[in-house]
Amino acid sequence: MAVRARPRFEIRRMRADDLDEVMEIERAAFRHPWSAELFRRELEHDWSTILVCVEPLTSAAGGRATERLVGFLIYWLVHDEVHILNVATDPQHRRRGIAKFLMSETERRALQAGATLMTLEVRRSNVAALELYRGFDYRAVGVRPNYYVDEGEDAIVMVKELRRFR
Ligand SMILES: CC(C)(COP(=O)(O)OP(=O)(O)OC[C@H]1O[C@@H](n2cnc3c(N)ncnc32)[C@H](O)[C@@H]1OP(=O)(O)O)[C@@H](O)C(=O)NCCC(=O)NCCS
Repeated sequence: MAVRARPRFEIRRMRADDLDEVMEIERAAFRHPWSAELFRRELEHDWSTILVCVEPLTSAAGGRATERLVGFLIYWLVHDEVHILNVATDPQHRRRGIAKFLMSETERRALQAGATLMTLEVRRSNVAALELYRGFDYRAVGVRPNYYVDEGEDAIVMVKELRRFR
């Protein structure tokens, strides 16, 4: 019997029935998680896209294939700017390149949509995220003091011009 290798990860847009799995990752990833209602609203905004990264799974019996949701990324496309609001990976699947895959796919979609600028904010203390964004050539262009009111933490504003090196 022929066995076809399945790709390790795939990216697609979030559907309403992904909400429970997305919320599980959101709650595990953030001390102050978004509510399910906020995600529902994002799904309805034309300017908002939620990408999910899934790992295809094949049942032991060779039956219907399923998938496991392992990460997600939310971005807004407004005029020529793509703003990344949130990216998170299931803690059990970190350092497997999932955030990198989501960031690359977002950039690909941004270019396709004609965007010229990528922007985001990140907590000053979030070393993992800062490293991730630096790896994508984002540069820090400013600080928003006490931006995260919960802990009074500063936000580092990062940008990346698209096409600069293209
Ligand atoms: C930040 C986060 C999304 C990274 O997800 P991930 O899928 O583990 O990241 P990847 O495996 O794609 O790693 C990409 C790069 O990010 C950097 N990175 C990721 N985790 C890191 C860590 N713990 N420490 C230092 N650098 C890290 C590395 O440069 C890494 O590349 P490398 O593995 O080749 O060294 C994940 O840690 C997370 O969900 N954190 C909680 C939510 C959060 O803070 N989101 C960002 C703010 S919106």
